Amino acid sequence: MKGEGRQTVRIEEVIEVCPGLVAAFARLIPQLSRSSPPPGRAELEEMVACPTTNLLVAQDARLGSDGLVGALTLAVFRIPTGVRAWIEDVVVDESARGRGVGEALTAEALRRAAVAGARTVDLTSRSSREAANRLYRRLGFAPRETNVYRWEQSG
Ligand SMILES: CC(C)(COP(=O)(O)OP(=O)(O)OC[C@H]1O[C@@H](n2cnc3c(N)ncnc32)[C@H](O)[C@@H]1OP(=O)(O)O)[C@@H](O)C(=O)NCCC(=O)NCCS
Repeated sequence: MKGEGRQTVRIEEVIEVCPGLVAAFARLIPQLSRSSPPPGRAELEEMVACPTTNLLVAQDARLGSDGLVGALTLAVFRIPTGVRAWIEDVVVDESARGRGVGEALTAEALRRAAVAGARTVDLTSRSSREAANRLYRRLGFAPRETNVYRWEQSG
């Protein structure tokens, strides 16, 4: 992590949901998605209880106990071809960007995926997300030739 951020930001897995966490996600998720509402307490508790979902947060010690400046979700699961992992919903608060917080979150996710035996770690990021694409390539992610499909529930 770069400069000052290195000393003050810690990456942790969420093991308990506190009101500050709900408030932090209410602040962070609109910076990631205009269409998805932030998770409430119940949804965060569901993630924390799920053995295949790892909710990582970046905590800035200078900002006290509510200093949550970023988040990332790592899903690790076994399929017939091996243990695989996905990184989703990476977001760093606008006030904390460019200090290596996104890098620290992603590097910690890669470390945990390796410990869990994941053969691959996948993610997607549309090209308009310039900072994200730059970050992932810098960390060693390579574009993969495949079609990404999505089926959406109607209504
Ligand atoms: C992507 C994101 C998580 C990066 O967080 P961060 O803490 O700023 O990440 P880092 O400081 O570790 O690295 C950011 C990189 O993006 C670069 N960057 C920042 N703003 C940029 C911009 N507008 N255009 C291009 N690159 C940019 C930085 O220079 C840095 O790259 P470098 O170190 O090679 O120079 C953050 O910008 C964010 O939350 N964006 C909005 C949500 C989003 O796009 N999430 C990713 C979903 S796939």
